[in-house]
Amino acid sequence: MQTAYAKEELRSMLAPLRGRRLVLVPTMGALHEGHATLLRQARQLAGEDGAVVASIFLNPVQFDNAGDLATYPKTPVQDLEICHACGVDVVFMPSPDTMYCSDRSITMEETHLSTVLCGASRPGHFAGVCLVVSKLFNLVQPTDAVFGKKDYQQLAILRRMVRDMDIPIQIHGAEIVRDADGLALSSRNVRLTPEHRASAPSIRRLLLAARESYAAGQPADDICAVVKRELEMISGVRCDYVELVDAETLHELTSPQRLALLAVAAWFGDVRLIDNIELSRS
Ligand code: PAF
Repeated sequence: MQTAYAKEELRSMLAPLRGRRLVLVPTMGALHEGHATLLRQARQLAGEDGAVVASIFLNPVQFDNAGDLATYPKTPVQDLEICHACGVDVVFMPSPDTMYCSDRSITMEETHLSTVLCGASRPGHFAGVCLVVSKLFNLVQPTDAVFGKKDYQQLAILRRMVRDMDIPIQIHGAEIVRDADGLALSSRNVRLTPEHRASAPSIRRLLLAARESYAAGQPADDICAVVKRELEMISGVRCDYVELVDAETLHELTSPQRLALLAVAAWFGDVRLIDNIELSRS
């Protein structure tokens, strides 16, 4: 495994790999089993002849909250070990100054899918994600890229970005990885208090119960209200949103035949957790 810290270094490491299947997994570090699953999926897609590139870059441009950026966990040594164990060929680990020119003036804004859910409460977040991911796509020029379904909205927006910008990269979604008690793995979980870590799996329990209610024909508004009420009964928990939307457009569900998404964001103390579940009536 090779590690590049500068763009030129990355280019020369990738030069001999051109023409092969090249699968990119962008991350912000603090890697856990969820990322390892993305990396293993990438390894499988790349096959023996292809190559896997992982980027580790805590992208300041996508943080709408300075405190969240400052407290985001950083585990670079462990991250490189995980990449190595998952069969990554090249890791790109730039600094913010390497990644961005100080007078950068181009933005990448998605204007429909990013107006709802997390986009509504985190202004500028998805523009920052689109900016960094498009830069990584240009730097690495992968054939494929893998993103997790926990960030369902991010995945939908990045699919839209490659569609609308004619970027010749195939995007793959990877299933959510959970702890044994159901809590979706997240780099932010380590910041939960023991009490909130103990209560956080209730998000998953409520989503599973909601899936039953939805299949049984209960109205979307009632389902969301129950999830919100139950979550807010937990001490120190405040819901950001609980919404049932069309899984592709992320806006209002126009037909019961379409795949739906129940998405939740909730503050457990000062840690914001997100989770989601796909729902169908049949
Ligand atoms: O999902 C993440 O970790 C980040 O949003 C991403 C895609 C690596 C861009 O910084």
